[in-house]
Amino acid sequence: MRAPGSQTQKLLGLWAAGEKPRSREDLGGNNEQARMAQSSERMSRRDLSEALKESTKEVHVQAESTQFMESFQKGQVSLREFKLYLASLYYIYLALEEESERNKDNPVYAPVYFPNELNRRAALEEDLEYFYGPTWRKEIQCHEATQKYVDRLHHVGQYEPELLVAHAYTRYLGDLSGGQILKKIAQRSLHLPNTGEGLSFFNFPGVTNISKFKQLYRARMNSLPMDSATEERILEEAKKSFLLNIEVFQELQRLTSQGQPLENGHLVQPKLELHARRGNTTHSPKESDRERMTHKNMLPSTPLLRWTLALFFMAATIAVGLYAM
Ligand code: HEM
Repeated sequence: MRAPGSQTQKLLGLWAAGEKPRSREDLGGNNEQARMAQSSERMSRRDLSEALKESTKEVHVQAESTQFMESFQKGQVSLREFKLYLASLYYIYLALEEESERNKDNPVYAPVYFPNELNRRAALEEDLEYFYGPTWRKEIQCHEATQKYVDRLHHVGQYEPELLVAHAYTRYLGDLSGGQILKKIAQRSLHLPNTGEGLSFFNFPGVTNISKFKQLYRARMNSLPMDSATEERILEEAKKSFLLNIEVFQELQRLTSQGQPLENGHLVQPKLELHARRGNTTHSPKESDRERMTHKNMLPSTPLLRWTLALFFMAATIAVGLYAM
């Protein structure tokens, strides 16, 4: 494992002083020839971090505008949606972090390997246990779009590791940016305790200053050895990564708007007990979810049943009317 420790401090120092790291030595490299070759190549193109930001601008807007993210931003996410979201993220980070481990010593990935600062798997496990209880592993399911994303992560990690940075960038920098906004919204709209339970995914205890860490991460991305063709492939992969996320959101939306998302391969009956295991009783997420469920799920689901009920009520009203006369 490469410990970011003193090198991290050095880079953070440079950034704090308003300077960009200029030499490869600043970025942990020591091969002068490689440095010369890369710097002449790099002079003719943008930094990878800028190129990534620029080329994913459009898909970022697309991701923010998915129905799922729109309703998340409006504070309309239900507990059920949030739980499914966390479950998907769990499978995604399991794969991302497995591939990250596989490539921790690979020069095409090592500079952006920050397990202590970034890894989300343990945090997601805590959150899933909080929401689903101790049997969470049996209760969650990897749906199709999530599986597609997971498959891509494994493919990249094993066969095209130079593209792994695109996936790490999309997820981790996203979590450190918009993710921090979503955290506040989720806490408020799901009435989660302000002790942070259920929100571990959004907390990065290993990162003391998010803004400086993002700068460090960008500097590390910019230090990765690559030619222009590889850079192009990384930019394409980052867009693909956003699109995979979008497909996950769309699938979550479909699952939840059907009203009865699949859990563990079975149709789930609307439950009043909604697994908020450790929430306090007055601010438990159960209430808001129950509230939403009453509107969504108490209506009979088939038109035939609805008509039968309507006719029954009409007949009852007429009978009561006749009786009153
Ligand atoms: C409602 C949803 C979202 C909101 C409100 C949001 C908001 C933001 C904001 C405010 C930034 C900071 C921009 C800056 O520092 O210049 C950002 C950056 C970023 N977001 Fe999002 N975002 C959302 C969804 C997503 C999603 C779904 C992804 C990907 C899965 C994502 C990936 C990123 C990335 C990679 C960055 C870093 C851009 C860079 O500095 O290069 N975001 N987002």
